[in-house]
Amino acid sequence: MRIVIIGGTGNISTSVVRLLLGQGHDVTCYNRSGAAPDGARPMQGNRHDRPAYEAAMQAARFDAAIDMIGFSPEDAESNLRAFRGIGHFVHTSTVCVYGIQYDWLPASEDHPLRPITQYGRDKAAMDARYLRAFYEDGFPVTVLRPSTTHGPKQGLTRQVAWDFSWIDRIRKGKPIIVCGDGNALHQFLHVDDAAPAFAGVLGHAACFGQVYHLVARGYTTWAEYHRTAMRVIGREVDLIGVPFEDLRRLNVPDFGICEEIFAHHVYYSAEKLYRDVPAFNPQRTLEDAMRDILAAMDADGRVPNSDELTWEDRIIAAQRRVRA
Ligand SMILES: NC(=O)c1ccc[n+]([C@@H]2O[C@H](COP(=O)([O-])OP(=O)(O)OC[C@H]3O[C@@H](n4cnc5c(N)ncnc54)[C@H](OP(=O)(O)O)[C@@H]3O)[C@@H](O)[C@H]2O)c1
Repeated sequence: MRIVIIGGTGNISTSVVRLLLGQGHDVTCYNRSGAAPDGARPMQGNRHDRPAYEAAMQAARFDAAIDMIGFSPEDAESNLRAFRGIGHFVHTSTVCVYGIQYDWLPASEDHPLRPITQYGRDKAAMDARYLRAFYEDGFPVTVLRPSTTHGPKQGLTRQVAWDFSWIDRIRKGKPIIVCGDGNALHQFLHVDDAAPAFAGVLGHAACFGQVYHLVARGYTTWAEYHRTAMRVIGREVDLIGVPFEDLRRLNVPDFGICEEIFAHHVYYSAEKLYRDVPAFNPQRTLEDAMRDILAAMDADGRVPNSDELTWEDRIIAAQRRVRA
């Protein structure tokens, strides 16, 4: 198949491109830098330059397209023009369309959507627009909703912030903070395990008009996630539980991701994807995924020196005083 990936050099898309090339597809990566891995065709452009983007996609007449970086209803409208007549279109959405209030867990794809962020609202609007295009005009779309999908490019996040200094803290034997008891449920998927879902839906008419959670079966807690990292790093440190409301008041830098997602039980059913896409069969354990990602972060010098940050020691000291 002749497939275009909008993006193609990002966190998830790098693995998707590698897999599609390995399967013998003719792959084009569309991005601003014009970068593409060996074997893929580069196509330079900015999707926000809408007339040029849409004209380029219409002229190229791809068999299929995967949009990794659609974030607004305007992106959806643009794609409906750009990919008129395409054989299959895959939209990368997010589980953030559901928000944080759940009527049942694991949430299935028919769970009510209650997004609490602009990101989630925009993705929900896009999902709805594409599905309307499928019902009204037969636009052959599949919507994939990933939860946390980590890989060498994204790095290893933590529960209480978008921050990577916790890795250095463990290495230096310093305690790290979790939110509350650290037992909020979460799902982690390695990008190499996510890629077969993108490749596996492509070209399958049964997947048209369908929405799938892109998660592996089961869940972990954030406390277990951080303990797994300790095993990988080879050093055990204390996990210090700090109540959510305190964290909110204590100006944790980049706390938004915790407030909007990581503090809450977010657990999604993977059954529909496993049923319809047999190629989706995640193999990497959390421990194995962490080893891979940590090696990449170290190679690029992306683990910050925790001695240069003071917020976590300040909060831990205050928490210990209160407990004492
Ligand atoms: N990772 C997660 O945990 C997670 C969870 C839920 C949902 N998602 C969804 O997964 C998708 C992210 O995929 P990803 O990780 O592969 O993306 P990514 O890491 O954000 O990659 C960005 C890619 O898009 C290109 N790009 C950025 N802006 C562009 C523009 N204006 N025009 C053309 N190309 C542009 C970049 O190349 P250039 O810089 O060269 O342009 C790069 O190839 C998003 O839709 C996100 O909502 C991710």
